[in-house]
Amino acid sequence: STVASGTSADSLMTSTDAADSSDTLANVYLKTRSFTDRITRTLSAEDCMVQSMDDASPTRWHLAHTTWFFETFVLKDQPDYRVFDEAFGYLFNSYYNTIGDQYPRHRRGLISRPGLETIREYRSHVDRAIRDAFDSNSLTNAQLALVQTGIQHEQQHQELILTDIKHALSCSPLWPKYDDLPFEPARTATENWIDVPSGLVTIGQQGEGFSFDNESPVHEVHLMGTRLAGDLVTCGEYREFIDDGGYERPELWLSMGWNAVQTNGWRSPLYWLQQNGAWLTFTLAGLVPLNDDWPVCHISLFEADAYARWRGMRLPTEFEWEAAAKSERNRSATRNEQPFADQLVDRGFAIHPTRSPDTLMGSVWQWTSSSYAAYPGYRPPPGAVGEYNGKFMCNQYVLRGGSVATSSDHIRTTYRNFFPADTRWQFTGIRLAK
Ligand code: AVJ
Ligand code: FE
Repeated sequence: STVASGTSADSLMTSTDAADSSDTLANVYLKTRSFTDRITRTLSAEDCMVQSMDDASPTRWHLAHTTWFFETFVLKDQPDYRVFDEAFGYLFNSYYNTIGDQYPRHRRGLISRPGLETIREYRSHVDRAIRDAFDSNSLTNAQLALVQTGIQHEQQHQELILTDIKHALSCSPLWPKYDDLPFEPARTATENWIDVPSGLVTIGQQGEGFSFDNESPVHEVHLMGTRLAGDLVTCGEYREFIDDGGYERPELWLSMGWNAVQTNGWRSPLYWLQQNGAWLTFTLAGLVPLNDDWPVCHISLFEADAYARWRGMRLPTEFEWEAAAKSERNRSATRNEQPFADQLVDRGFAIHPTRSPDTLMGSVWQWTSSSYAAYPGYRPPPGAVGEYNGKFMCNQYVLRGGSVATSSDHIRTTYRNFFPADTRWQFTGIRLAK
């Protein structure tokens, strides 16, 4: 499968009563768009404007950019589509150089106009046009595939909306709550270890369902006997590393990691702070006492790697992780996985990792030791959409499994997320290998 083509338009078909595949894709489109509205409902226009660091974007920008994606890749080619505002191409293009220049990323928080109301109108305008296109059956198979990509793209930005607003709110000394909701109960970690298949294993996405271009081509990788921890590293376990001087011992760190610790003054995960000897942590539900049973999160690859070395273990490669997840998925053991973002929202719980699930998937993204690189034979799809993933395959690391900020119908065993090694604001944690 590729971003631009090769995915069938009906592969997201989930409802059996839909008249045809177009209806169903239209419903998935509307559901995804309205989930974006749902997770931004608690935010004021002021909240939506903040850009707290270069890596993060204002909520307003995410709302507009995801809309721009559908307008640019699907609607512009529709004969009677009216572009909402020509200036938006420059403002809300993220990084597609073959489409045109972009307003500088680090200055996105300076744009107060169009106002939030107008951005919401932009969203409605594009939603209406997409709905009309579905109603009149005027989308080609290539355009239907791009709608599917646009849906997955919007889901990626839903996760970014949550992590970016968490960072923005964390900059206030008042520790504002994104949403005042209870936490899901914590659950103590188990001691189980998962056997990773050894020998030749098949890596990558095959068959039905959407996948991004970076998940293919399917190929074989040779693995040696490895075991993965059945649970994620907890905050309590990570505190032992801190208490043992983990952040002061250069022998535990990669050279670049040690530099990052010095330069940034890291002494604990992002959003942890100590008051009168007790650890607190900032969450989307405000500042709360740290729970030792929660999975540790908001750590860089460097911290994950140093922690693993301190335990006498290591991080899994992305191939070990995928092979284990694919075989683990087929086991009939009862699942006790932490709900994903859409499920947490449905059930009225805070979006925060509180459980180490009985599966490799969910709770926090897991750093792997694998550099984000092309699979053998990979070629980005033709056209501007080819800039989506391929050009970032340098100086980043692969993360697997999804997090509490990911939607349940977005994640899969072959999914490759990627971030630079010193990144901490995503929901990122540790699964050990030995
Ligand atoms: C895969 C999360 C690194 O944040 O740029 C959004 C997702 N791609 N728009 C990113 C993405 C295009 C991407 N990450
Ligand atoms: Fe994007």
